Amino acid sequence: MKILILGKGYIGRRCADTWNDAVISDKFIKSTEDVLQLLDKHSPDVVLNAAGVVGKPNVDWCETHQLETIEGNTVLPLLIAKACQARNVYLLHIGTGCIFYGEAPDGEAWTEDDYANPVAVYTRCKYAADLALATMDNVGIGRIRMPIDHIPHKANLIDKVASFKRVIDVDNSVTIIEDMMQVFHQLLEKRASGVFHVTNPGSIKHKEILSLYEKYVDSQHNNEWITEEQLVSQGLADKKRSNNIMVSHNLAKVGISMRPIMEAMEDTMKKYAKYKK
Ligand SMILES: NC(=O)c1ccc[n+]([C@@H]2O[C@H](COP(=O)([O-])OP(=O)(O)OC[C@H]3O[C@@H](n4cnc5c(N)ncnc54)[C@H](OP(=O)(O)O)[C@@H]3O)[C@@H](O)[C@H]2O)c1
Repeated sequence: MKILILGKGYIGRRCADTWNDAVISDKFIKSTEDVLQLLDKHSPDVVLNAAGVVGKPNVDWCETHQLETIEGNTVLPLLIAKACQARNVYLLHIGTGCIFYGEAPDGEAWTEDDYANPVAVYTRCKYAADLALATMDNVGIGRIRMPIDHIPHKANLIDKVASFKRVIDVDNSVTIIEDMMQVFHQLLEKRASGVFHVTNPGSIKHKEILSLYEKYVDSQHNNEWITEEQLVSQGLADKKRSNNIMVSHNLAKVGISMRPIMEAMEDTMKKYAKYKK
């Protein structure tokens, strides 16, 4: 299998560095024609779309850059899908679980069948793409959430929570990057269509992440705990962040599973500690 990865950012590079059957493109895509040229140049069996606009320095940027956010997260995936459909190439698009805000309709966890309730510009644009792409055959959407990696990176939730002086203690579904890469590879192999929640089973609190951080990485670490309301009222975020618990029913249907979050988190923190040394 030859994988073409579009988008040379954090997740695209991480996958390209790990998979030995992938090539990565950093071409800036403006049209379906651009994608067709890439498909004809590389002749991939499958495509991973890891290109998108996540906001710099953070997602709040998207609140005031609506057009760029729509271009990168709604228009771009559709241009890519159109080209992949024309060449009959399977596309796996990276979605986000941050389209879900608060408690799930069943009071437990958001499933792939639930309609989302996005609030922020970024999440609304991501969800718009999901709604359209989910109608197509030969297209999969892998929704990830708050990536956690054993390699330090500014997008890694471990680095984020460890760097904040004031932290909210919320319970969330998260994605261990090592597990995500295995799941994405399997989805690409199976050319699985539909929506997939690529979050490790269960949920984890920021307090649990930091407690493992203090155990394995830095016993001197300390921080202040604040409420979600204080996060916005103290000017630490423009918009309330999405917090949610997700579950995947569709991964099991195609024979894919992920490690429970506490097991995967402890393993990841131990590996992260080795990287920091
Ligand atoms: N990181 C997370 O926390 C997270 C969570 C859930 C979902 N996701 C999704 O995962 C995907 C990858 O995110 P990431 O964290 O890897 O972000 P990233 O590091 O910003 O990577 C995205 C890459 O896409 C590129 N790009 C933007 N527009 C493009 C275009 N028109 N043509 C080609 N490349 C383009 C960017 O280039 P420039 O840097 O030059 O703009 C950047 O290299 C995104 O769809 C994001 O929504 C990420």
